[in-house]
Amino acid sequence: MALSISDGARGISEKLYVLGRREGKGGVLNIGRYYALDKSLGSNVYVDGAKPHVILICGKRGYGKSYTMGTFIEELSMMEQDIRKNIGVIVIDTLGIYWTSFFGNKKHEEMLERWGLFPSGIKIRLLSSPDNVEEYRKMGLPAEKFSLKTSEISPLQWCNLFGIRIVDSTGVAIARAINELEGKEYSIDDIIEQMANDDRSSNEAKGAGENFFKMASSWDVFDKKGMPLDEIVRAGETTVVDISSYPEELKVIIVAVLARKIFESRVRERKNDEKDIIKGKSTGRKKFPLVWMAIDEAQIFLPPGKSVSKDVIINQWMRQGRQPGLSLLLATQRPSALDDEVLSHSDIIICHRLTAQGDIDALNRVRPTYMRGEIGEALKKVGMEKGVALIIDDNSESVHIIKVRPRMSWHGGEEPSAMVN
Ligand SMILES: Nc1ncnc2c1ncn2[C@@H]1O[C@H](COP(=O)(O)OP(=O)(O)O)[C@@H](O)[C@H]1O
Ligand SMILES: [Mg+2]
Repeated sequence: MALSISDGARGISEKLYVLGRREGKGGVLNIGRYYALDKSLGSNVYVDGAKPHVILICGKRGYGKSYTMGTFIEELSMMEQDIRKNIGVIVIDTLGIYWTSFFGNKKHEEMLERWGLFPSGIKIRLLSSPDNVEEYRKMGLPAEKFSLKTSEISPLQWCNLFGIRIVDSTGVAIARAINELEGKEYSIDDIIEQMANDDRSSNEAKGAGENFFKMASSWDVFDKKGMPLDEIVRAGETTVVDISSYPEELKVIIVAVLARKIFESRVRERKNDEKDIIKGKSTGRKKFPLVWMAIDEAQIFLPPGKSVSKDVIINQWMRQGRQPGLSLLLATQRPSALDDEVLSHSDIIICHRLTAQGDIDALNRVRPTYMRGEIGEALKKVGMEKGVALIIDDNSESVHIIKVRPRMSWHGGEEPSAMVN
């Protein structure tokens, strides 16, 4: 059962948070409280964080999606040490708003107090472009340059990145160069050189290819060696990959490559675990941890049409991810702009205020039989209050209205206001 009702107040004490862990409840994430029609708050709502999940957070702009995702990330980072040490959290930060989690939510001290909480930042590592890294370091944040290994990008992915077809003459020239380099470690310059030496491609195709690769080189993200996966996802840590400064096509490739590498590593690790279990050995600390990947603005990566990131996330993470222990935390403003499979694979759907009929219809198409009445009717109970949401939990086959707890860490990405405070 993923959701459970607690038998009363949790007695969360400051000491437990300062230690960065909580005793007692094994691996649970306390994301908020039940919310009654008279707006009173009931008992705590827990999500079982030690088991794999696909959690979809949706709702119209400004009602709490990114905030709720942040609350989950906080809860994951505060899990008991003996569970947390086997979990790696990776946040795909499309808008560059999660660095603020490093700081305590001083802004809402009073609100936190009403919940028996207090401002507290969480430990994160940031990976981003060189410019962002410089900015982050100036603020005293732990940041490193993010890079992908050039040889991990397939000819098709390069073509997607450049917006060309693999059957076009430039696409063919690119594919030929990459195939020649196969099995080696290479840089973008090596690809350009390889293309230049190809006498079967026209000068026009080679010239266009060279221009594309020069553009790719200017993003400063591809590298001969690339960042090893175990530096990107680390057991017991939360890594925020800030991809906000990259063009959308590159964001998609980055997610596709990372998601594939994580899946492959987890499948390997799981196999080793099983061998140990069969031999009667303890599985012990994991070399490569279970992974929670959080993706805000998920519609970019999981559209109904063709997409390289969708292929990996749906085919590997969603269809086969439970066994190797992969969890997803997705947020989107437009559930109707997601591939239908995303909705049907989500075992927990958290829906903040939502009014667009197309989006409500998309949720209705996957409405479970245990839910009486239309989603639209249920959503009316959510009302206008920020942070209130309808939660549909497939594990306990139940539907509730909840209020997500306030963030202890600073929430970034608040809408800028023209009014001077
Ligand atoms: N659970 C909550 N408790 C209190 N305030 C909230 C909560 N969720 C959202 N808010 C408020 O709503 C604002 C918008 O939320 P945000 O998550 O940024 O919206 P979006 O759905 O567009 O991602 C936040 O800046 C915060 O002030
Ligand atoms: Mg948002």
